[in-house]
Amino acid sequence: MTTTITFTVQPGGQLRGEARVPGDKSMSHRSIMLGSIAEGVTHVTGFLEAEDALSTLQAFRDMGVKIEGPENGCVTIHGVGKHGLKTPQKDLYLGNSGTSMRLLGGLLAGQPFNTVLTGDKSLSGRPMKRVTAPLTTMGAVINTTDSGTAPLAITGQNGQLQGIDYVMPMASAQVKSCLLLAGMYAQGETSVTEPAPTRDHTERMLTGFGYPVTRNDNKISINANGKLTACDIDVPSDISSAAFFLVGASIASGSDVTLKHVGINPTRTGVIDILRLMGSSIDVINEREVGGEPVADLHIVAKPLQGIDIPEDLVPLAIDEFPVLFVAAACAEGRTRLTGAEELRVKESDRIQVMADGLVQLGVDATSTPDGMVINGGKTIGGGVVDSHGDHRIAMAFAIAGLRASAPIKILDCANVNTSFREFKDIATKLGLGLVSEESAVN
Ligand code: S3P
Repeated sequence: MTTTITFTVQPGGQLRGEARVPGDKSMSHRSIMLGSIAEGVTHVTGFLEAEDALSTLQAFRDMGVKIEGPENGCVTIHGVGKHGLKTPQKDLYLGNSGTSMRLLGGLLAGQPFNTVLTGDKSLSGRPMKRVTAPLTTMGAVINTTDSGTAPLAITGQNGQLQGIDYVMPMASAQVKSCLLLAGMYAQGETSVTEPAPTRDHTERMLTGFGYPVTRNDNKISINANGKLTACDIDVPSDISSAAFFLVGASIASGSDVTLKHVGINPTRTGVIDILRLMGSSIDVINEREVGGEPVADLHIVAKPLQGIDIPEDLVPLAIDEFPVLFVAAACAEGRTRLTGAEELRVKESDRIQVMADGLVQLGVDATSTPDGMVINGGKTIGGGVVDSHGDHRIAMAFAIAGLRASAPIKILDCANVNTSFREFKDIATKLGLGLVSEESAVN
């Protein structure tokens, strides 16, 4: 027996007040990975205590790393050094987390022991060839299903990988990070060229741990001649979680919200750029740098939005924010068109189809395309029942749609909100969203 969570959101309302959303998911994963293979004790604050980051944390415990916490976002990692990980006694179960699986695939390919990486139904359906193919070129031995999906059975190559010069066919921070981590255990240099900039937390954090990594235009290089020295990491709030309130406060008349201590790394701020192009009023205030990452408070007041053609160069910089950006588009006057975003079809769900289906269900004029969506917005959003398909960001996006709906919206299959944002309901209701969450048992 498992439990399912259903969200019901009352129509209308506004968002007002101040909030600090939880820590950045990408940085939380990386803090555990790099802290574990560093020499010395790493202290992390602002760690995201949600299922995905906890999957990474558990995997490293299973490989013999002593990790204390998390408690109130504080984690203490007793690093074992680059060559100190131990054979896990069981398969490493990574739940819903694509980042855990793809990055660990790279880190574990060159170890002196074997591992098996498994995940839930969604993760087991996601493409892994994008990492296993280049890793195999490096000499990695990784078995997948015939269709290239998890479980990944990795036969560790004990430092015998060969560096490669890889030109990535898609803009993916997970693929880039996977290969850089593998490159730390490879002979010669490993370089990854990205077709467009993607989040660079791996590179920044490696530098913070004192591990040499170089960037030349869009080519990032690493080799095995380095070590990580433990450090303190302060993880800022996740802009991908803040995005729900950036959109909510933009679309709900009378809203006025300040989001504190949000990570505004330029490889992550596409959502701000896109909303501003639509007419949103977002002020970036108190800009500062925390542990090598830019941070700021974001102040948003509601303003009418207009539909736009979303510039394709912003797509990788807002890749996780499209579910809620589609809601903004549904509220914007005129047509919004997204192109060049086929990657959305292989996220935790097919985010193009699942969002288009849900929006249509609510009476929105939305049409999916192979690489995006066309939305003719500005008309009333209706009420009804939508299915999140177990995708955390779809569930939260439809909850935000309630602010502009004419009747209650019921959202099915919301338990996975806990993979990234356990506090969503509490923060959303505190700011003014009429959201109720109900748990029930399913067989
Ligand atoms: C992530 C990279 C992105 C993003 C994911 C987290 C990361 O995936 O969608 O949620 O932490 O590196 P891709 O790199 O596959 O686009």
